[in-house]
Amino acid sequence: MAVHQFDGIIVGAGGAGLMAALQASKGAKIAVLSKLYPTRSHTGTAQGGIGAALGNMEPDKWEWHMFDTVKGGDYLVDQEAAEIMCREAVETVYELEHMGLPFSRTPEGKIAQRPFGGHTKEFGKAPVKRACYAADRTGHMILQTVYQQCIKQGVTFFNEFHVVELLMSNGAACGVVAVEIATGELHTFHSKAVMFATGGSGRMYKITSNALTLTGDGMATIYRAGLPLQDMEFFQFHPTGIYKMGILITEAARGEGGILRNGKGERFMERYAPTLKDLAPRDMVSRAITMEIREGRGIGGKDYVHLDLTHLDAKVIHDKLPDITDFVETYMGIDPVKEMVPIQPTAHYAMGGIPTNSSAQVIKDEKATPVPGLYAAGECACVSVHGANRLGTNSLVDIIVFGRRGGKGLGEFVKTAVLQPLPADPQVKTKARMAKLFDGSGSESVEAIRRDLQAEMMDKAGVYRVEAELKKMLEILAGLKSRYQSVKLQDRGKKFNMELLEAFELEHLLQLSEVTVTGALARQESRGAHTREDFPKRDDAKFLKHTLAYNEGGKVALRYKPVSITRFQPQERKY
Ligand code: FUM
Repeated sequence: MAVHQFDGIIVGAGGAGLMAALQASKGAKIAVLSKLYPTRSHTGTAQGGIGAALGNMEPDKWEWHMFDTVKGGDYLVDQEAAEIMCREAVETVYELEHMGLPFSRTPEGKIAQRPFGGHTKEFGKAPVKRACYAADRTGHMILQTVYQQCIKQGVTFFNEFHVVELLMSNGAACGVVAVEIATGELHTFHSKAVMFATGGSGRMYKITSNALTLTGDGMATIYRAGLPLQDMEFFQFHPTGIYKMGILITEAARGEGGILRNGKGERFMERYAPTLKDLAPRDMVSRAITMEIREGRGIGGKDYVHLDLTHLDAKVIHDKLPDITDFVETYMGIDPVKEMVPIQPTAHYAMGGIPTNSSAQVIKDEKATPVPGLYAAGECACVSVHGANRLGTNSLVDIIVFGRRGGKGLGEFVKTAVLQPLPADPQVKTKARMAKLFDGSGSESVEAIRRDLQAEMMDKAGVYRVEAELKKMLEILAGLKSRYQSVKLQDRGKKFNMELLEAFELEHLLQLSEVTVTGALARQESRGAHTREDFPKRDDAKFLKHTLAYNEGGKVALRYKPVSITRFQPQERKY
């Protein structure tokens, strides 16, 4: 059995994992494990910008950013964490600049900034230019820049290693088990600390902006280890995915002046959000699009509306939105300078995840007790700075700020922590999972179960939800889980056995879907991205609280914990 020993293991090589690695590896022996080659991580697809109150184009303050974040999250945001994020956003963006990130520039050479949904000046008066950007490739540039810094600093990478098990002993994290994709061999990693930075789980839905790899591996691995997941019922639909494909068309397109139009050619957002209009937060815009479609005002009565950029200067489109221009031309054969783009809401971002404190330490209960040596950052984590609905640009802020904080904390922790012993047979659970998949007697295929899961989740646990449909979804999930027991792999080989990896990923998606739907059924209110048609109002008296979901003998058990409210008391949310 191969055992690798490091002070710390970071699972995931997107923005959060790389930022953490950069910090932690300054004084400790750190390895980053990723199921991908690092620069293929999903951070690379983030387009429009990273929010920070630099005030380069007009006055701005971190307090306004914090207010927008809290209000955007429908007051489920932990305000102590949001304050840290919005304050530290400013210095981290400059840190990225100093690493060499090629931001777009103002004529005077400052970092350029543009408006984005829900970001305002003076506590909601009007949109503000806060999103720092590198054309529409901001995430791509962050990923490349921070990866280069990690290489320069000599961080050790294990690329294409799929982590499938967290190892714990004496109540502390002590390593992970991973499959080396190229050989199929199992590897044990033994360490004083482990951080998960494995991204989201959007592949539980049929229409999604998420890459094929976004299967919630880190969240599900934590959940299987008996630790909770927080606020999983809140899943964000980005308003503008390419019709039928879900591929992201950045909100920056509306930040640059793009307009949403229904089948009658109306700028319908004027009715739903009179002040911010097309730049209202995503939950509101996605609901508005869905409502227009339901009421027969989709294009030609169909299930999409138009994003209209045709009134913009062609130079603005080509200079500031080059990637989405390319996507629209490639996938739809449309020139956005001349024609409107068919769009529909696309599953984009999990607000929930592995609960952490503001030092990125994983917590295990309502009292916020940290698990020694265990950290999480980025989309797989829930700090919670996004509450019930994340503002655009705040995912990049989150990964950079809390990746950095977590990396620093982990680096300090391993200096004095004791290396806990490995469990007697660390690979036993993984071997059993694999044996079942290889030697099972059934005839179910991973692909068929996944297709059914994605279609049903889209239909029953999407933008709008209702009790009967959520209950039906739980029944469907029970059926899908039982079908999963009959999966038999066709690929019997070890090398690059993608079917095996997809089987692991499907198990993760099934577990997370069950947590999502169970939380959604219990939350009898509408808040942020969680809209219950049978409970259309926010209910602070009963539900101004975070959900914690535990795996108790294969069943989801829910508990709740309070929200941290410091500066901004909950108000009615108008835009
Ligand atoms: O619209 C976008 O560019 C996406 C950004 C985000 O999710 O923060």
